[in-house]
Amino acid sequence: MTSPQSLPAAATAPAPSPQAPAEKPAERKRVTKRTLARMRQAGKRITMLTAYDYPTAAILDAAGIDVLLVGDSLAMVVQGHDTTLPVTLDQMIYHAEMVARAAKRAMVVVDLPFPEGQLSLDRTLTAASRILKETRSHAVKLEGGAEQAERIRALATAGIPVMAHVGLRPQNVHVDGGYVVQRDQERLVQDAVVAEQAGAFAVLIECVPAAIAEQITRSLSVPTFGIGAGRETSGQVLVTNDLIGLTSGYLPRFVTQLANVQQVVTDAVVAYRDAVRDGTFPTSQHEF
Ligand code: KIV
Repeated sequence: MTSPQSLPAAATAPAPSPQAPAEKPAERKRVTKRTLARMRQAGKRITMLTAYDYPTAAILDAAGIDVLLVGDSLAMVVQGHDTTLPVTLDQMIYHAEMVARAAKRAMVVVDLPFPEGQLSLDRTLTAASRILKETRSHAVKLEGGAEQAERIRALATAGIPVMAHVGLRPQNVHVDGGYVVQRDQERLVQDAVVAEQAGAFAVLIECVPAAIAEQITRSLSVPTFGIGAGRETSGQVLVTNDLIGLTSGYLPRFVTQLANVQQVVTDAVVAYRDAVRDGTFPTSQHEF
């Protein structure tokens, strides 16, 4: 077997950093909840995308995405489940640690997976502190609004920044009987306002009519992030796999798909398969 020492440099060097437009040094400073608050005040739109692994997080970070969300969507996107419910706290921690290690500038926010944010306060605090301590990420996200006020307050008091998540709440899929656009304006505004009062540093709004999301944003002083919630939020978030076309499933109408990675990978794999089968790979160039 070849020893690593005898490999040519290219085979042992770390992967090249992703090609992304250069940013000025000041823009590479760590994004914090204060950065996000300043961006909202200055009317600068904030970007958030999901990340579940080191190489993808490194690409998003180098491209200047402000917030990386280790979403519990990883249950669906990475693990292949049909809801977000099966992913465990240990699995979230495993993925979040890789993402946080790759993120040199972005703030990293990690979902509290079901049912860590639904059972006792003690369990929520223990889960959230494990996330911050074991992954070195910067904040957690908790589904719910007004009914989560006590939890949000306890997390914030314990020094754990928390983003609230109102509107469609995927962890409630069985209670709601599916993924349903949320339209109860009074309740949605109340959820967000109470979450902010309890100490949430930001509020994510999912699948809510644009006019309601705009009203929520106007009612708050902390930043809002919309997904399927129109243009008038402080920032936008998407599931990265949807954005880059690395999903075989259904795409919701609020997604913009800007690449077709599935096709790129399929083309490469088919070309490799054919090259091996017809003997054109490897060539002498690939030999030692
Ligand atoms: O888990 C997730 O990906 C989310 C989305 C709303 C972005 O929470």
